[in-house]
Amino acid sequence: MKVTPSGQACGAEVTGIDLTQPLSADDIGQIRSAWLQHHVLSFPDQAMNDDDLERFTQYFGAFGLDPFFDPIEGRQHIAAIRRDADEKSPLFAENWHSDWSFQARPPAGTCLLGITIPPVGGDTLFANQHAALDAMPPEMREKYEGLVAIHSAQMAYAPDGAYGEKDEGRSMAIRPDESARETQTHPLIREHPETGRPGLFSCLGYIIGFEGMAQEEALPLLQQLYAWQSRDEFVYRHQWQPNMLVMWDNRSVLHCATGGYDGHDRLLHRTTIAAYQA
Ligand code: SIN
Repeated sequence: MKVTPSGQACGAEVTGIDLTQPLSADDIGQIRSAWLQHHVLSFPDQAMNDDDLERFTQYFGAFGLDPFFDPIEGRQHIAAIRRDADEKSPLFAENWHSDWSFQARPPAGTCLLGITIPPVGGDTLFANQHAALDAMPPEMREKYEGLVAIHSAQMAYAPDGAYGEKDEGRSMAIRPDESARETQTHPLIREHPETGRPGLFSCLGYIIGFEGMAQEEALPLLQQLYAWQSRDEFVYRHQWQPNMLVMWDNRSVLHCATGGYDGHDRLLHRTTIAAYQA
């Protein structure tokens, strides 16, 4: 197995392994340690089917719980990230986020398998939140140290949210629901549960405020933080190919989708890896 770092803020390409076949404990251990080191791994030229995707995911934990999406037909744990060539609805996941950070035990990771990849555009961006915290000036960090963030899916998945009842013509099977208004708290700065490395967890969007702080104070702080978290120096731009699997660590990175492929179909199959159990 060969691991080639992207040379950007995170991310590495892994070659010399066939993910259509069962993996040995040694292979799995090597992939896990590369994942924890680089936060985003891409595996090109993997002609994987949905069984292969499910098997690979479960090497790293149980399946996560995926609310607000219907799974693809015949599977319980695979969602389609899809946009049709003629689709006019706003791009899915164009804002920075950490997947399902509003859950009590958010998923450790996400796997995404490229199936139909447009010839231009559609890159996914990843922002390294350990690097973002490390580089934060002390006078800025002081403002965020010790804050407990309030997370919710309401802005995205409540009936009046971005993917709610007014969101028409979307090919993805998104299912908004009142339960999106529930809230959950997590420390904003926290140690990675496996590596112990401190980082910023999630961002404005799924974070809707801070415990014990008025919204008028919290919102500007969240906006300033969002701008910092997504600075170019913390970002890895991932370019997709068909038959490419990417796995990322939601505890270490934010990610967002990009457009630029109008007139072309894009389809990827996604699973989540449940929170780490020591
Ligand atoms: C996602 O956030 O799960 C999708 C990212 C992408 O479509 O590039």
